[in-house]
Amino acid sequence: MDRAVDSLFAPLTFRCGVTVENRVALAPLTNGQSNDDGTLGRDELLWLCRRARGGFGLVSTCAAFVSHEGKGFVGQLGVATDAHDEGLATLARSLEIEVTVPIVQLYHGGARCPSALTGARPWSAVAAQEDPATHPDAARAGTTHEIERAVEDFVRAAERSKRAGFAGVEVHGAHGYLLCQFLSRHNTREDGWGGALEGRARIVREVVRGIRARCGGDFLVGVRLSPEDFGFAAGMDLDESVTVARWCAEDGADFVHLSLWDHTKPGQKRPDEDVIALFRRALPSDIRILTAGKIWTPDEARSVLARGSDMVALGRSAILNPDWPMDARTDNWAPQRGPMSASELAATDISPRFIEYLKRFKNIVREG
Ligand SMILES: Cc1cc2nc3c(=O)[nH]c(=O)nc-3n(C[C@H](O)[C@H](O)[C@H](O)COP(=O)(O)O)c2cc1C
Repeated sequence: MDRAVDSLFAPLTFRCGVTVENRVALAPLTNGQSNDDGTLGRDELLWLCRRARGGFGLVSTCAAFVSHEGKGFVGQLGVATDAHDEGLATLARSLEIEVTVPIVQLYHGGARCPSALTGARPWSAVAAQEDPATHPDAARAGTTHEIERAVEDFVRAAERSKRAGFAGVEVHGAHGYLLCQFLSRHNTREDGWGGALEGRARIVREVVRGIRARCGGDFLVGVRLSPEDFGFAAGMDLDESVTVARWCAEDGADFVHLSLWDHTKPGQKRPDEDVIALFRRALPSDIRILTAGKIWTPDEARSVLARGSDMVALGRSAILNPDWPMDARTDNWAPQRGPMSASELAATDISPRFIEYLKRFKNIVREG
């Protein structure tokens, strides 16, 4: 491979002016390694710094909760209160020393916030179908006041991230969490926050506009989307997702992050069209596209770039290959695909808590 023209290692400048050294991002990865109150845990710091040292041009935190009511995971990092500031500043500083661009993924779980973590019944765009008498965590429909407060919580969390020293944020609009629940066709609210796409997209658009207005023009802002139905991301439509991406770009987003889970799979609605190419055609050329989903080898990553993505985001391959971007510079290097033993994972700065969580995913942790 001629390094002078290797697409993977070309720097990239976003519309806001932030430049990343290469096209390889660490995908946001929930790891349960922070403290119960959302303050930064030492193991979360070590895990992320290890990947930053491995050469990732952009490093995202896990989905970090923007308010206590929006918390979704045990050991989740928070970006919600003053108590979180010190750890966030340590994290931003430590990542920047490794010459990466650090961002925070901003998250509210909506219907998927367990009351055991938040102390309250979850709310969402619409009420869940289950009977709350038998399903105490069945979501109720949020009030207008709660929606407006959630928008404000996202914007404040972005301001907090900026103050802590992060270069930007990614708004989590994917995977069936709060913003995705609003984008879904199942959101039939009739009060301007649901129904037609304009109403369903209002919450994510207000979040993006608010962040751009309050964090300034040089702050990196992205939105992660699930383009079509997959798992919890129910009620997503490809054409609508393209429109939402365009709107978010108009509202001030610098990038759209496509969460595909498997970049080789054709889309459901338009199996003959490449999903990445579809977004590329619809978006202005200075709006960057990140793509995630089963990208393992450097050649696969280059092929995703060739299809119109500006960066690749690695999840499982980055868990198992902390030095992926550095290793990918070696000809014929092949990534580890797992499963790996707990001690092999521990040697890459993955703590027992994260290893336990990773057991939910196939082929990462070798049992025994
Ligand atoms: C352990 C684990 C934790 C994840 N946590 C998050 C998260 O916090 N936020 C998010 O948007 N996606 C999350 N994802 C999805 C990844 O960011 C990524 O999109 C997905 O794993 C597909 O990429 P991959 O095939 O390279 O793993 C998670 C995935 C895994 C395996």
